[in-house]
Amino acid sequence: MLESTIVRVGLIGAGGIAAAVHYPGLKIARGTRIMALADTDAARAEARAREWQVEGLTDPEMLVRRDDIDAVVIATPNVQHAPLALCAARHGKHVLCEKPLAMNLAQAQDMLSAARRASVRHMTAFTYRFVPAMRYLKHLLDRGSLGTPRHFRAQRFQDLSETCVGWRQWRDQAGTGELGDMASHRIDYGHYLIGEIRSVCGVTRQFLPRDRDREGRPVRPSDTDDWAAILGEFEGGVTGVWESTRLARGHSGGTVGHDFVEVNGSEASAIYQLRQPYEILIGRGGRRFEPMHVPAEFLKHPESPRVPGEGDPAVTWRYDQAVEFISAIREGRDCRPSFLDGTRCQAVIDAVLRSQNERRWVEVERVL
Ligand SMILES: NC(=O)c1ccc[n+]([C@@H]2O[C@H](COP(=O)([O-])OP(=O)(O)OC[C@H]3O[C@@H](n4cnc5c(N)ncnc54)[C@H](O)[C@@H]3O)[C@@H](O)[C@H]2O)c1
Repeated sequence: MLESTIVRVGLIGAGGIAAAVHYPGLKIARGTRIMALADTDAARAEARAREWQVEGLTDPEMLVRRDDIDAVVIATPNVQHAPLALCAARHGKHVLCEKPLAMNLAQAQDMLSAARRASVRHMTAFTYRFVPAMRYLKHLLDRGSLGTPRHFRAQRFQDLSETCVGWRQWRDQAGTGELGDMASHRIDYGHYLIGEIRSVCGVTRQFLPRDRDREGRPVRPSDTDDWAAILGEFEGGVTGVWESTRLARGHSGGTVGHDFVEVNGSEASAIYQLRQPYEILIGRGGRRFEPMHVPAEFLKHPESPRVPGEGDPAVTWRYDQAVEFISAIREGRDCRPSFLDGTRCQAVIDAVLRSQNERRWVEVERVL
């Protein structure tokens, strides 16, 4: 695609994340036009279409088939990701799909193969890769500033209500609970920062039935996990420890909350926290951790027109995800992160579930 060409995008699913991240991200991405949205909830489709001043449809396939759409963003419940992404690939559309990429590894592999066969750009919405502190931590690791990495650990703790959390609490809609919803991003941190995870020993637990909605009305009980923990080994011997929960009282804070990564290398340790998106803590042998500001070049995606420091500091970096998607389409290169990253994450999720069911360590299926 020529650098000067406008990328015409359709949004599929106009719920929470489409409004918070995808729409505003696409609005700032250079050379982008949002043509239409599709949401199967007619009232929502109509309301968002009015708000965003775009055409609103209720049939996502009609949107995908249109000749005046080059790319789609899939932001629906997880169960719809695979059918919609396969449809997009069939119609030659570039596709940015929400995480977890699919309901299981087989589906994710089909999505990756279909996108490759169709030669479309494909991206998984591992949004937190765009946190300035995460970009800088990756740089520190790549240039060897921490020495040889030995340990990786990640935590996601949230204090959510005990009532129904909608489609996210049912296996037939979501695949898994906390594991796919929140731990998936942190599994991806491991892949991004350290490399491929080779084997895991995982545990998940469901603590709550969540059989009432906020108003106390009965709903279908949950059949997914509220808590997940993983011990892992990376290729090359780095150890990994992950814990993710919705039930950590005191860890409130909306979408920010406690999101923590620590890497211990032979020369130094580094800590990333989502609460401090512009800072890394660095600890060298025999000394306490000290804050280090993220240098200017890591404050945003190179193609992002954002002015760092403007807007809500907890939110604006999220818009760089759309900038990466559009830039990759215009430059004719792979998106980072792609469906390959989404599929590798899904391979770990499947291995964790097998490990939990069989109560043993499991090798993670290799995805090429
Ligand atoms: N990357 C992130 O940080 C992040 C954050 C939140 C959610 N997510 C992911 O985004 C996706 C959506 O989550 P959400 O919180 O926006 O959910 P949501 O329930 O707020 O919105 C989903 C929307 O999709 C619509 N929908 C359902 N089936 C559809 C279909 N077949 N075609 C078109 N529209 C359809 C629903 O009517 C709803 O409006 C999930 O996969 C979730 O895991 C990612």
